[in-house]
Amino acid sequence: MAINILGISGSLRSSSSNTALLRACAVIAPADVNMTIYEGLDKLPYFSPELDTEGSSPADTVLSLRNQVRAADAVIFSTPEYAFGVPGVLKNALDWLVSSGEFTHKPTGVISASPLATGGDKAHASLVQTLKVMTADIQEEYKLIIPIVRTKMDPMGNVTDPELKSSLLALVNHLAARISSADQH
Ligand SMILES: Cc1cc2nc3c(=O)[nH]c(=O)nc-3n(C[C@H](O)[C@H](O)[C@H](O)COP(=O)(O)O)c2cc1C
Repeated sequence: MAINILGISGSLRSSSSNTALLRACAVIAPADVNMTIYEGLDKLPYFSPELDTEGSSPADTVLSLRNQVRAADAVIFSTPEYAFGVPGVLKNALDWLVSSGEFTHKPTGVISASPLATGGDKAHASLVQTLKVMTADIQEEYKLIIPIVRTKMDPMGNVTDPELKSSLLALVNHLAARISSADQH
């Protein structure tokens, strides 16, 4: 059976290296893995608990995000780090998902990438912490911190570094294996 993975990039930049990494995952993924990339991050309203109470109906963009996460067997985030933290647009999306429960036990990959040598490690740690609070299933094998990312891609965003390619493939394969083994139980 096909495995569906949703990629969520924390960057809105048209030439984002993080979005390019998710596209690279889609290209190198095995044939039984369908990967789509979420595109509505900049269309979500600012989160407020008052807009998310029983009886109130959140915006269609929020419902669409929740539906896409729910329908996915796994999610892979790839995010930059802004001022040592998770980009606000990505944290806003996560806030909409805290109480609705789509991440409960969801196998979830977390990538951060940066032109700096730190690879966005602080944003990575923060994103992992938030997702763990949301009870996402995050194993060591689903995590990747990518330093000096621009030396590992060509100007079109294709991954040129063989080691990075195999790390991305390993991450996708670990998630796929987790989903397949869960299906058998
Ligand atoms: C406002 C701002 C703050 C940034 N802060 C950090 C930071 O704290 N750590 C870091 O590694 N890179 C930082 N950067 C550089 C980003 O990592 C870089 O722009 C990266 O390419 C963004 O990812 P993207 O290519 O996916 O858009 C910052 C960039 C901007 C514009």
